[in-house]
Amino acid sequence: RILILDFGAQYTQLIARRVRESGVYCEILPWDVTDAEVREFGAKGIILSGGPESVTDTKGPTAPQAVFQSGVPVLGICYGMQTMAAQLGGRVTAGTHREFGYAQVTSSAPCKLFDGLFDHKDGQGRPLLDVWMSHGDKVDELPPGFVAVGFTNSVPLAAMADESRHYYAVQFHPEVTHTLQGEKILERFVREICGCEARWSPGNIITDSIARVREQVGRDNVLLGLSGGVDSSVVGALLHRAIGDQLTCVFVDHGLLRQGEGDQVMETFAQHMGVRVIRVNAEERFLTALKGEVDPERKRKIIGRLFVEVFEEEAAKLQGIRWLAQGTIYPDVIESAGSRTGKAHVIKSHHNVGGLPEKMNLKLCEPLRELFKDEVRKLGVELGLPREMVYRHPFPGPGLGVRILGEVTKQYADLLRKADTIFLDELRKHDLYDRTSQAFAVFLPVRSVAVMGDGRRYDYVIALRAVETIDFMTARWSRLPYEFLDLVARRICNEVDGISRVTYDISGKPPATIEWE
Ligand code: XMP
Repeated sequence: RILILDFGAQYTQLIARRVRESGVYCEILPWDVTDAEVREFGAKGIILSGGPESVTDTKGPTAPQAVFQSGVPVLGICYGMQTMAAQLGGRVTAGTHREFGYAQVTSSAPCKLFDGLFDHKDGQGRPLLDVWMSHGDKVDELPPGFVAVGFTNSVPLAAMADESRHYYAVQFHPEVTHTLQGEKILERFVREICGCEARWSPGNIITDSIARVREQVGRDNVLLGLSGGVDSSVVGALLHRAIGDQLTCVFVDHGLLRQGEGDQVMETFAQHMGVRVIRVNAEERFLTALKGEVDPERKRKIIGRLFVEVFEEEAAKLQGIRWLAQGTIYPDVIESAGSRTGKAHVIKSHHNVGGLPEKMNLKLCEPLRELFKDEVRKLGVELGLPREMVYRHPFPGPGLGVRILGEVTKQYADLLRKADTIFLDELRKHDLYDRTSQAFAVFLPVRSVAVMGDGRRYDYVIALRAVETIDFMTARWSRLPYEFLDLVARRICNEVDGISRVTYDISGKPPATIEWE
């Protein structure tokens, strides 16, 4: 396996995903791990990520000495290259401006990392590589033992290597898709230079996880909160395969799900797969608790608290449960463990029922802890879950509760569900669903005047929201075709009695958030 040391770059998780896509398991640890931790990890190769700091700053982060004492191949990327250069006796100078975007690297000496990967030539017949750069500082003096293997117009040392020690470094970012041969460069490093076998595939992950879960829980019974979301669904399918009847799922239906979603969860798990699922129809309870409440944060708190309460009540009725299963995935683990590197936070779903394990004396079973979302999805498909469920857009824990502005009522929820279904159906029919990251309808409890037929109407308004984003921290509104929007708006006004006006949200994030509340 491969160790990636994180110097705080935005792209570190991308490096890990690319390495895993080449079939090799890897983990990310913060740059300030101890020498002992590096040795214990037992990596066959180490990658040093990029980062926002400057090597020229005396307080800038450095790689633990054990990295260069371990004898395994090391690849430095961007900041990783600079710290490698500085730590091994070269020199880095502070840049006066950032170089950002497309660049061409010209080969200046043969190197195993790129051999055969320069895919075209310049006017003088020298091999070229299209890459993506994002840096301020640069290496301007090689450390002893290194040779320059690539340059660009603005960076004389864009890549360097000391092949006798298996040290390689690049100033550009091979992990982003704009570096056309980037995937192959990373694959070359982990497979050929480090000698790792390609064992990391959905099939193997399932086999290994099943063995591990069986060993972990033995004959004990396990409880899982199923929400219909991707992560808990995949945990459910995996655990069912691993331990069969020892698994009991509780599915709290708060009545704020999308149309037909609750039934689909039951159909997939209970009917199709034969998983024991207890469905709790708690719509009344949630609507009663939300009555009269208009404040978004208080609505969220009410839904979260009640969700845990209902789940706990059901769990208390069950006998002999020793474990609580959760759909924690690798980015959650990195976010909480990586506080040392001060990373951005993600919004946690309230479905992770905090507090319950200690209260009920339960141990935690988290079989997806090592996986990225795209791996979880592949696993889901391999385990036989419907593609539609596995590749569904994210849906917030409080559900339609935060898509009905102000007070939540059954009438509003029903209107919203109908409009939302039309929007999503049409997106799927027009092949636009997978081209948006998240799309949904929002219910606005204001009324506007309309004429339909001969009569005057005074009806509610629906807003449509569709965004494109990689990380959900920033987003751009989807440029959906006018004709498509026109069709959806007409269908909603014709088919949803009570709605006679539809608007399309053209705000980005920032300043607007993706959800309206
Ligand atoms: P915002 O609206 O903050 O949303 O731009 C970013 C992403 O987070 C989801 N979201 C939530 N998920 N509980 C959740 O589980 C919540 O309270 C919540 N609020 C927002 C949102 O759907 C989007 O994907």
